[in-house]
Amino acid sequence: MGNRQQRFDTRAVHAGMEGLRESGAHVPPIDFSTTYPLPDVDSGGLAYEELATGQDLGAGRSAVYQRLWQPGVARFEDALAELEETDGAVAFASGMAALSACLIASVTAGKPHIVAVRPLYGGTDHVLASGLLGTTVTWASVDEIAASIRPETGLVIVETPANPTLELVDLAQVALAAGDVPVLVDNTFATPVLQKPKRHGATLVLHSATKYLGGHGDAMGGVVAGDRSWVERLRQVRALTGGLLHPMGAYLLHRGLRTLPLRVRAQQDTAATLAERVSAHPAVRRVFYPGLPGQDPKGLLGTQLDGAGSIVAIELAGGYDAAACFTESCALIEHAVSLGGVDSLVQHPASLTHRPVAAPAKPGAGIVRLSIGLEHVDDLTDDLMAALDAAHAISPAEAQTPEDARLVHAR
Ligand SMILES: Cc1ncc(COP(=O)(O)O)c(C=O)c1O
Repeated sequence: MGNRQQRFDTRAVHAGMEGLRESGAHVPPIDFSTTYPLPDVDSGGLAYEELATGQDLGAGRSAVYQRLWQPGVARFEDALAELEETDGAVAFASGMAALSACLIASVTAGKPHIVAVRPLYGGTDHVLASGLLGTTVTWASVDEIAASIRPETGLVIVETPANPTLELVDLAQVALAAGDVPVLVDNTFATPVLQKPKRHGATLVLHSATKYLGGHGDAMGGVVAGDRSWVERLRQVRALTGGLLHPMGAYLLHRGLRTLPLRVRAQQDTAATLAERVSAHPAVRRVFYPGLPGQDPKGLLGTQLDGAGSIVAIELAGGYDAAACFTESCALIEHAVSLGGVDSLVQHPASLTHRPVAAPAKPGAGIVRLSIGLEHVDDLTDDLMAALDAAHAISPAEAQTPEDARLVHAR
């Protein structure tokens, strides 16, 4: 582990780079080996035993097989753990693989019941609602968490700021209500630059690393940071189920961490300006952005969360038709799912990222989600205003209830 006395930005640049200078390298080498030489049968067997039960690679031991240990992945994990201030981290092929590993670990520990606070990313909502991995779920508000917990509850799952409408959850309140039950916080939107959930009582911190950690829309990955015992359990699940992060992905995600603080703050500055600028447009019914007045009722900005981030959601007054028109009218801002990259994206959650979510939890049909990138704020303003002008020409839809979202499927 690196030097936690240093400032966050310094650690973001140097975390996970230990031992490189001594090895004569400046950046981590990418090792594509799927298998590793074994010095003899005894030590090979011991190394296998240690790695398959989730322990660290012992000094002088063979890494045996990429599914058990990969040096570049381990560097990325060390770096992320350092930034999230946890004992360790375990990386996976995607955010959903990371979440699946947590659910499988919970089920195998005899704790298949999950308490989850909506809204959540649509994929998370879907895997919980479907029970695909042997879990059952109780959807709860933060105030209902304590009463929802049972002896077989394995995890309380929350997301803050939440995808797509940026609701903020008080993590200390969640941790208190959860008691002994581990709290898993999806920190994808905030990143450790803006929020360190462990400080507020989280047991596990999950990221879709595909988003801000990588930051360039070219690497898929997921990662869970936690204490030693969870790291071992999650490595075991990964070794058995094989949801591995590829060495190239690990390299790119680790590189992404080095510029993470700069990107997050610059994108956030632009998002804050845009959230204000679009608020007054007549096509807009509501802007969802935690930095706007009245959108942080618990006062979490400045205490739990160091900034409002760079995701902005807009509800169009003209409902689904206006949202579709707006989305398709953006030109500089690309119509695509995902978020957190250097280029701005727009998408319609009820049709895409949150399509499987059941009403009434599904985002409204008039809501679009923007991920603000590093383009100049005035160019983004021009693009947004032109798209809002186009959407304004659409007459308001009659119904604005959550049932609208079902109409989206019927189209
Ligand atoms: C908040 C959040 N968590 C988890 C995920 C799932 O991550 P991935 O797409 O890397 O599997 C996403 C994806 O959009 C997300 O936005």
